[in-house]
Amino acid sequence: MPRMSTAPDLSKIDGLRPLERASRNRLMLGLFIPLQQGAWSPSTWKRGTSWTFEYNAECAVRAEELGFDLVFGLAQWLGKGGYGGEMRFRENTSDPLLVTAGLAPLTRNIILISTVHILYGWHPLHLAKLAATLDHMSLGRWGLNVVTGYKKSEYEMFGMEPIEHDLRYAMAGEFSTMMRRLWTEDENVTIAGRWWTITNGFVAPKPVNGSVIMVNAGSSGAGLEYAAKHSDLIFITSPAGAHLDHACQALPSHNAKIKALARSHSRDVKTIINPHVICRETEKEAWAQYHAILEHQDPVAADNFYAMFVGGDQESWRAATRNDWVIGGNVHVVGSPEQVVDAFLRLHKAGCDGVQINFYDYLPDLEFFGARVLPLLKQAGLREG
Ligand SMILES: Cc1cc2nc3c(=O)[nH]c(=O)nc-3n(C[C@H](O)[C@H](O)[C@H](O)COP(=O)(O)O)c2cc1C
Repeated sequence: MPRMSTAPDLSKIDGLRPLERASRNRLMLGLFIPLQQGAWSPSTWKRGTSWTFEYNAECAVRAEELGFDLVFGLAQWLGKGGYGGEMRFRENTSDPLLVTAGLAPLTRNIILISTVHILYGWHPLHLAKLAATLDHMSLGRWGLNVVTGYKKSEYEMFGMEPIEHDLRYAMAGEFSTMMRRLWTEDENVTIAGRWWTITNGFVAPKPVNGSVIMVNAGSSGAGLEYAAKHSDLIFITSPAGAHLDHACQALPSHNAKIKALARSHSRDVKTIINPHVICRETEKEAWAQYHAILEHQDPVAADNFYAMFVGGDQESWRAATRNDWVIGGNVHVVGSPEQVVDAFLRLHKAGCDGVQINFYDYLPDLEFFGARVLPLLKQAGLREG
């Protein structure tokens, strides 16, 4: 049985809403939980990382106890064998909506974000109701990462034709507006939209803070425009690939553009980037781990995984190389605890409001991070004491 968090209920101490509490930190801290078999790295190098609920629950509970602000789960639909290879990369994948529901009673403070492909057969009333329920189960800690699906194969699995890129975001806009009306209006809602219709629909209970925490992960013009209008958090992608120097050159203007766009809609959006962290006592040991992951790559899984990132109609991942994707994550942060803190300071300086971290061997890597990096992040002023 998964264990419950031992962290005190912070809302009883500071009275803050979860997102307000997270935003007090100069750098929000999230964990990208490993719901998919093999998580982010198509490599057979040794590790205990597992896609099971039990393992993910321990990651989330431990992250909360260490003071992380959020955990986030990806949603992906794959055929038999996943991305293939000897390791059948990502064949087993748990559903993030259900996993976050399971995590709600095990945790007290941490924000639980689930991805939903809203265009794969959902109606806004369905999701508004489920989201409001999850919001209550977690007392206002549940977040919805709205994704529109960039893979033709996924649309086909659901018996659908792929939908043109920008049209998907127009549909996501209508869908989200309908959910927001259901969460905020105290009368039956009737809307004849372009894609969905609601006649006398109603959702109660309402989310405890008026809305669930809205998130998206777009990087195109249409994706950012959607974020500016609807999201509280946006998961951003380095426009210049996984190398930290290149990412930190490209990120200031990317972050500034997103903030300006949100301001033009009188809104505030926080940006969160997704580094893969390999941290060891010394830089040499950290790079040895990096090279071991690369050298033990599963070549078939790595080829298929890379093909996914350079295929589809999304543009944002093309700057990363095949080897970058064997390691996984969006920006690579490899080094000693001091070097990880330095990298996070640079990402913060580049305009990122937060990081959500991938690890290779989640539980021991998280424990090491908690023991060696977190105190230094506090000393550096990136995290509250
Ligand atoms: C951190 C992160 C998480 C994402 N999670 C998912 C996901 O769970 N499922 C999915 O289909 N797409 C996911 N995406 C892809 C985005 O929804 C989006 O399609 C991609 O970033 C391309 O942006 P665009 O749609 O604006 O072109 C994610 C992207 C990022 C950066």
